[in-house]
Amino acid sequence: MPESNITPLIQLKRIGKSFPGVRALDEVSFDVAPGELHAICGENGAGKSTLMKILSGVITRYEGDLVIDGDKVSFTSTRDAEVAGISIIHQELNLVEQLSVSANIFMGRELQDHFGFRKDRLMNAQAKELLSSLECTIAPTTLAGSLRVGDQQLIEIAKALSLQSRILIMDEPTSALTESEVARLYRVIEKLRSNGTTILYISHKMDEVFHLSNRITVLRDGQFIKTLETASTSPKEITHLMVGRPLEQADSELEIEGSQNADQMQNREVVLRVESLSLAWPGHARGYRLKDISFDLHRGEILGIAGLMGAGRTELLESLFGATSIAPTGRITLDGQTIAPRHPSEACRAGLALVTEDRKRLGLLAKMNVGRNITICSLEKATTGWFLSPSRETTLASAMVTKLLVKTDSLRTPITTLSGGNQQKCIVARWLLTNPKVLLLDDPTRGVDVGAKAELYRLIRSLCKEGLSVIVTSSELPELLTLSDRIVVLSEGRQTAIFQRSEATQPKIMSALT
Ligand SMILES: Nc1ncnc2c1ncn2[C@@H]1O[C@H](COP(=O)(O)OP(=O)(O)OP(=O)(O)O)[C@@H](O)[C@H]1O
Ligand SMILES: [Mg+2]
Repeated sequence: MPESNITPLIQLKRIGKSFPGVRALDEVSFDVAPGELHAICGENGAGKSTLMKILSGVITRYEGDLVIDGDKVSFTSTRDAEVAGISIIHQELNLVEQLSVSANIFMGRELQDHFGFRKDRLMNAQAKELLSSLECTIAPTTLAGSLRVGDQQLIEIAKALSLQSRILIMDEPTSALTESEVARLYRVIEKLRSNGTTILYISHKMDEVFHLSNRITVLRDGQFIKTLETASTSPKEITHLMVGRPLEQADSELEIEGSQNADQMQNREVVLRVESLSLAWPGHARGYRLKDISFDLHRGEILGIAGLMGAGRTELLESLFGATSIAPTGRITLDGQTIAPRHPSEACRAGLALVTEDRKRLGLLAKMNVGRNITICSLEKATTGWFLSPSRETTLASAMVTKLLVKTDSLRTPITTLSGGNQQKCIVARWLLTNPKVLLLDDPTRGVDVGAKAELYRLIRSLCKEGLSVIVTSSELPELLTLSDRIVVLSEGRQTAIFQRSEATQPKIMSALT
């Protein structure tokens, strides 16, 4: 356990960084002790990722000093930082989708023989060993692009581990992992710690931060706020420091409103009816990804879908949205009409919208600015006659930016320069603008900070009052319990329970999950 009299391993001294129009970091100073797990907390856009990019040589121009082991360092590249023993697992996954898992792990430092030929077999063998230390059975020759987000994140972790760094930076490593994958990551972290690895850990999940860390540093609006011993603080204090005001009041308001809503729900008309929905899984022993799923969704209702990894949460939403490669069987009825969308565009026309869990691959339009990313699916609303009206488009987009507290310099800012959580908010905004009858949300608050989460819940709730119906999945049970009027539980592709809000408790759901 680190003590204050130990020489710090890392000293950050008055670190500053400006981007056009944004002061991302301002005179940030704190220390990291050798062997500790140091958590960094802060709202979306607080400057966490920027600071870690400086420490890992991704960003090379900044103000202030970086001191490692008492010596001032200035990295000119990530390679420099790797040589100094620092590696980073990025928040936004950086895998090359067209390359194999093993090629991704060894990118830039491929093993070669005397003649300069790549030693593919050796690399595959080493990759396999690394992956199995992460309890992962993916073949090293699999194409990275064919993996789900959770597995891709694991490959990023394997890549960082292969460097055998003494300082490992993890920027929201669990944001795309399911509960059992998180448990597996915790075991890996324990192993690393027992080998003396120092870990810098960014997360919006307070339970994780408190479970893992020795100390916590809070950033707010690019400023250093405080470093605290984890043992002598509380999640409440940390959130308070992060947002600069107490939060819990807002949450309980939402809960009361939610339960009133749930009581009225059963008498409302059915908007979406799902009957015996099944999705085949050719070549797999189980034979199906989904089997006999049936439920009703009422107007104004929020239906939560709980499930562990492989339970079929994402597949369920994708089946409804016409986004599966194989057509599902069974019957889907929307407003009294049977629908069988075979493509997302058909589902959109029918009145469905889907916010996917994987924003980078399926959601963000990386070449476009913030405004257009928000309005892209509702441009007809900004069109007068034949022409797109820029001022109308701006009005639409800026209303959403305000509603969802998107932190951006302007609507013309490139979307890729926004912090991770703020990018996520733009994608949610886009689909809300399409005024769907049914909104499908696949883990919508992934990487969104506590304050903005509460805003997002409130917004969803108020849209439901106006008649929107929502199906939402989440990897966090407490989130589902706060938000949902009813909860459907999936286990290995089957529906094992459906709970009313009043009867849904964490233990009951947990037992239905397995
Ligand atoms: N390349 C860039 N160009 C312009 N602005 C940037 C760039 N990178 C980051 N920023 C801005 O710097 C600020 C801090 O961003 P950063 O990504 O460090 O936040 P964060 O704390 O990691 O947030 P999150 O929890 O959402 O990931 C934000 O306002 C962001 O828009
Ligand atoms: Mg970040």
